Amino acid sequence: MTRVFSGIKPSGSVHLGNYLGALRNWAAMQDGADTVYCVVDLHALTVPQDPAELRASTLSLAQMLIAIGIDPERSTLFIQSHVSEHTECAWLMECTASFGELRRMTQFKDKSEKAKFVSGGLFTYPALQASDIILYDTDQVPVGEDQRQHIELTRDLAERFNNRYGQTFVVPEAVVPAAGARVMDLQNPENKMSKSEDSPQGSVSLLDDPAAIEKKFKRAVTDSDNEVHYDPATKPGVSNLLSILGAATGQSPTEAATGIERYGDLKVATAQAVIELLRPVQARYHELAADPAETSRLLAVGADKARTIARATLDRAHQNLGLLAP
Ligand code: AMP
Ligand code: TRP
Repeated sequence: MTRVFSGIKPSGSVHLGNYLGALRNWAAMQDGADTVYCVVDLHALTVPQDPAELRASTLSLAQMLIAIGIDPERSTLFIQSHVSEHTECAWLMECTASFGELRRMTQFKDKSEKAKFVSGGLFTYPALQASDIILYDTDQVPVGEDQRQHIELTRDLAERFNNRYGQTFVVPEAVVPAAGARVMDLQNPENKMSKSEDSPQGSVSLLDDPAAIEKKFKRAVTDSDNEVHYDPATKPGVSNLLSILGAATGQSPTEAATGIERYGDLKVATAQAVIELLRPVQARYHELAADPAETSRLLAVGADKARTIARATLDRAHQNLGLLAP
């Protein structure tokens, strides 16, 4: 059976880009594959975190994953720091990656240019991400467009390790959705949608209430030529709304434009589609949030399942590398 693995960081609230680009696919892939999903809390540590907030957002993200349809009975759902094999394997991957390779990662370049303090972890982040993936003999990794380069690196590292030490790791591939792979910021449609802390009006949180969603779409930046058609290069704002409307209603962006003539109507239609898409997710989330002990129990079961797989892979790597067995 195909093994699927993916991860998401517990920083800030989950936004529409996360959902359309990645999480919706996570849920869909549970039919017909063996799915393993992880809240990658260690990946959030590349920048300083507020301990109480980190704890709360890790739990809340796990509940959100269940709310969007990840079924802890069918999938292995766990928290990265509960399975210490991830950081152990990260060292092996750091020693497999070259300095130049890590330096070329666009996410590192972008973030390190903006940051005042650049941690060593920000630089080696992709080695930890590669470990997350290869520990589970992963075939497919559902992610948004922005993660393609990290998955390519993971492939290179797995292949290099296998060439040096013999067949050890499965070489994974990225699975990027046709629609919604790159949801843009509503205020700055040249940038991808990211955490609401960075762009409060440009980012739609999965927990925004209908009034807030409507307001954000009404204020979305468009252009002045008043023509509803899809052309991301010259009409980034309008095209982003069409992509979102299409992704929310199961159409292509061009199909979504049919019958809509005014920008105002496009904004209202998109807001309504998003509100309807999120309504059941929000209801389920609030139920789960009321019972944190049950979520913790489910996550402990998930960590046990994950550890069994990860340990076997890491033992195989140790053996092939020539680390003396204890
Ligand atoms: P992150 O929040 O950075 O941990 O990302 C979690 C998942 O959401 C990854 O698979 C990303 O590729 C995806 N993602 C993040 N931002 C966007 C976006 N604006 N559009 C589409 N997918 C996204
Ligand atoms: N780097 C990913 C992101 O920023 C999160 C992530 C960490 C991940 N480990 C992973 C995604 C493993 C897929 C597989 O979105």
